[in-house]
Parts: sequence; C-alpha cells; structure tokens
Amino acid sequence: MTDAPARDYVSGALAPVRDEVTVTDLAVTGSLPADLAGRYVRNGPNPIDADPATQHWFTGAGMVHGVRLRDGRAEWYRNRFVRATDPPDAAVNTNVCRLGGRTFALVEAGTQPVELTYELESLGTNAFDGTLEGAYTAHPHTDPRTGLIHAVTYHWVEEAVRHVVNDGARVVREEVIPVGGRPMVHDCALTGSSVLLFDLPVTFDLDDAMAGAPFPYHWDAERPARVGVLPLDGGADAVRWVEVPPCYVFHPMNAHDLPDGRVEVVVCRWERMFDRDRLGPNEGTLRLERWVLDPATGRSSTEVLDDRFQEFPRVDERRTGTPTRYGWTSGLEEPGAVHAPLFHHDLAAGTVAVVDFGPTSAAQEFVFVPADPSPAAPEDDGWLLGLVSDRAEGTTDLVVLAAGDPAAGPVARVHLPGRVPDGFHGNWFADPA
Ligand SMILES: [Fe+2]
Repeated sequence: MTDAPARDYVSGALAPVRDEVTVTDLAVTGSLPADLAGRYVRNGPNPIDADPATQHWFTGAGMVHGVRLRDGRAEWYRNRFVRATDPPDAAVNTNVCRLGGRTFALVEAGTQPVELTYELESLGTNAFDGTLEGAYTAHPHTDPRTGLIHAVTYHWVEEAVRHVVNDGARVVREEVIPVGGRPMVHDCALTGSSVLLFDLPVTFDLDDAMAGAPFPYHWDAERPARVGVLPLDGGADAVRWVEVPPCYVFHPMNAHDLPDGRVEVVVCRWERMFDRDRLGPNEGTLRLERWVLDPATGRSSTEVLDDRFQEFPRVDERRTGTPTRYGWTSGLEEPGAVHAPLFHHDLAAGTVAVVDFGPTSAAQEFVFVPADPSPAAPEDDGWLLGLVSDRAEGTTDLVVLAAGDPAAGPVARVHLPGRVPDGFHGNWFADPA
C-alpha cells in the first residue's frame, strides 16, 4: 500500500468515551490462569470535544483502562482520565509503566510523568520526586542484567536528546547528547552494551509551533537518518553514528550486540511520517525489518522480515538486549478496514503465525507475561494479554492467549463493560508476591 486517503483521529475506533466507570466481577469466557494476579493497564488518547479537522492523534487527553485479575477472576475494570497538574491540560496518553513499584502514566516531548494509584486515580505530575531535570519518554526499558531503567528523551528547547537512567523511580544519570537539531525520538533500544538513539528525519517545526500546531513535528527531507550507538555508561563523545535509509521508527522490537562489534535491531519501519498527513501516522509502507548496524564503519544493512502493516512490537522483556526468538506485533489497520490480527513471529525459524480474532475484530498491543518469572524460564512460557475490539459490536475484550501457541485462540476473554478506544501502550503489573 502507498499513501492512504485522509482520515481523522477522533472518530470510529478512536472515538472517545465520556464516562469514568468502575465495574466489578466481570464476565469471562474461557478460563483465566489462576496465577495471573495483578493489573493489566493501557493508556491512550481520549480526544473529548476535539475538532476532527485539526486533532493530532498524539494530543488527545490521556485515559487509562485497567483490569484487575486474581484467583481466576476479573475483579474490576476501571477507566480514568490521566490528570496532569503541571500544566493541567497536558495529555499524558502514551504508556503506563511501573518504576520502583510505583505506577506512572508517561508521554514524550516534555510533559513529565503522572503518578497513579493502584486504582488508577491521578496523583498529579511527578518528575520522579524532583530527580528528573528534563523531559521523559513513554518508552523506558529495563536492562535485565542491572535492573536499571534506560530512556532516551527529547524536548524542543534543546538541540539534543538525553539518555536518562533510573534506579526505580529515581533518576541516577541524565546525559545530554547534542544532535544538531530537534528530532522526535519516540523510543530507544538496548543491546546489552549500548543504548540506540534513533535520530530520524522527523523534526520540530518552529513556524508551525508558533502558528499553534498541537504537535509540530514533521518530515524533514534535509535531515539524514541515523542511529547512534551509545555505551550505557558513555557520554556524548562516545556515540558512534550509523547511517540508515530515510524512514521513521516509533518502535524497535529488540536489539543485541553481535560478536564482531556490530549491532542487530528489529524495527517497525515507516517509509515516511508526518509529511502530507501531519495529524497522525498515515503515509507510505510500514513493515518489520532487521537492521545490522556497524559502528566501526558507520554503515548499515537492512532486510525485510514481513511487509505487512504492523506495529506495537513486544518481546519477553526479561530478554531485552539479548537475542530473542519470539516477538509479537499487532496488524495495523488500513484506513476504513476493521481487520487487524496479531502476528506471532518466530525470528529464528523465519515464520509468522497469524492470530485472527474474526472479520470485524482488531487486535491492539499485546504484552508478554511470563508464567515463571525466573530469568531462565523459556521465552514463550507464559501468556499474551491485550485488548481486542469488535468494530461491528462496539465491544472490547481483554484477551489472554498462550504465548507458546497463540494461534490456538484465546484462553480467556474478559468482557469489558464498554468499548475501549484504540490506544497506545499497556503493561501487566503483577501484584507483589
Ligand atoms: Fe510508542
């Protein structure tokens, strides 16, 4: 598919819900694994009273949707607006993560995290108790070897990105990396030794910002595309830049070091971003690719793994920065379509199993939850949790799949009390043992 027709980001699957509700003892089809004790929580934009002609997908008011599971029961569903206190109208709508045992709603580009209670009520903006100096990101990654949490952040006020390292909810390192421009950097990847900086040609547009554009980042044909390889404990002078073909990447699936010093990373690669359609991702091809980056030469090679539209890649995050065999992505609907399966990638075998939820159903992001939390447990021993919406029925279920054989169909479906608008990212927060 090439350029798609214009669309808006406030109707259909993205239409907001008005009410915050609490419903207990939800209906379940199938059998919820008794070991799942905790919360599945997902964040996303809920663009109340937005103008479809001007609403950017990324700027709708944040709303979290959560389901608590315990003893084979779905104890509650709650949806709550994410309420920032500084500034009070900020949209904190992209992810919800746990740092140091605390729950934070997260967004990139400047607005700081909002801490949430267990029941998803907002406690207000919290810059990690004042330890965060700059902006944060929606995509922190925990290094399983050290437990430290790495992020790459950006803010239009500086021609730089920052490498931010947290020990739990406390920032312990914040390294400014000048990049000679103001790129939008949605996510990063860890390789084991390094963090990858995605400096790609979508940059801040001052003129549009002055004119009031809600998210003034656009395709910048003048800016080369490159990935920085930064040692985890390195300063700005330690970055080695590697050229890549012009494109945009919101999300890497995972990355790792190769024995010869090169770096492998699997990404969902968009051909183009925010060029003609400046309100949301809607241009050109989107496919899964494997890139090999050579920091010694500054050159890269790319290989298409799957040319179907897909996004929201996840892996077994106990293996972040190491070779992973399995990865999961959600099919991304083409405008006007309703059918979006889940893809179960076996990267070692080069095969993909398609998990089809039916002709009017669409899968959102699925997250892997290990059955056995020990680091050595097999990477497909566990469950996949995610939301599936039936466009025809206007309903949404929290679906549980067996990670080893997701194509066998749902182990359980928790029927939510209402439609959940398509959103961005969610995670499973196991209750403390
Ligand atoms: Fe994201």
